[in-house]
Amino acid sequence: MKGIILAGGHGTRLYPITLGISKQILPVYDKPMIYYPLSVLMLAGITDIVIISTPRDLPAFQRLLGDGSAIGLSLSYAEQAEPRGLADAFLVSQHYIGDDSVMLILGDNIFHGPGFSLMLQHAVKEVDGCVLFGYPVHNPQRYGVAEINGANELVDIQEKPEKPRSNIAITGLYVYSNDVVDIAGELRPSARGELEITDLNRAYIAQRRAELIQLGRGFVWLDTGTHESLIEAGQYVEILERRQGVRIACIEEIALRMGYIDAETCHQLGYRLGTSPYGRYIMDVASAR
Ligand code: DAU
Repeated sequence: MKGIILAGGHGTRLYPITLGISKQILPVYDKPMIYYPLSVLMLAGITDIVIISTPRDLPAFQRLLGDGSAIGLSLSYAEQAEPRGLADAFLVSQHYIGDDSVMLILGDNIFHGPGFSLMLQHAVKEVDGCVLFGYPVHNPQRYGVAEINGANELVDIQEKPEKPRSNIAITGLYVYSNDVVDIAGELRPSARGELEITDLNRAYIAQRRAELIQLGRGFVWLDTGTHESLIEAGQYVEILERRQGVRIACIEEIALRMGYIDAETCHQLGYRLGTSPYGRYIMDVASAR
């Protein structure tokens, strides 16, 4: 399975911060935002990943992550010149996807919760159709919203509805079989001029090939699209890391635990960042192995 991180867009809701820098490179407490979605793909066992962003911002991601080989990944980069919608990700990266199935994650989504790795590894096995992840929110109007029938089946999704039919938001993490490229190619732009991921997902629902995994109460899903949600995400990470002494979305630690790199390589990566607490943490993790 291939992985896609969609990290483009203009980030207009965060202006003026994003006039000069990509939103998905902004810090969420102690690390760049993109580390969080990248760590989700890594935990799912995906090592072949394409990062999609704007021509302006791609060089910054390349500077940050390179070809990924330092942490046992193969990273590619693809340009999305204009924000033509989330489903456009599959058209921009279709050559790269080839014959594979694919997991897409939005570059500004943060997931954290017990049993998440196992859930991901299960979700990527033998996909026929799509797997979506739902999360209860108090403001569903801001999201794609699941409509669920009495038998707890996903029957429809409405994008940013005024009158939501449930409080279950569809999160920015999606798994698809290879035909996603064909289905994305048949979509027409919505009223706001975008190829909507919700239209794509509705096509799978119509074919009865959509599964919804509901993330429970103990789970955390944050997005970072506004100044308030950005600082809240940073505070959440800071509180948890300080309390528990472990780091969320430390990509070097995940690479070690997933077997993508060995302890010695991990230690060297930490050494290079040595004067920062993040670097010292990586060296400690490697030494404990
Ligand atoms: O976060 C989950 C939600 O994401 C879903 O519940 C919605 O169904 C889905 O439409 C999407 O809603 P948003 O309003 O959050 O999408 P937004 O346009 O803000 O784009 C999400 C991220 O993707 C954002 O960081 C910018 C990036 N993006 C967006 C577009 C439209 C791109 O890289 N390229 C694009 O063309």
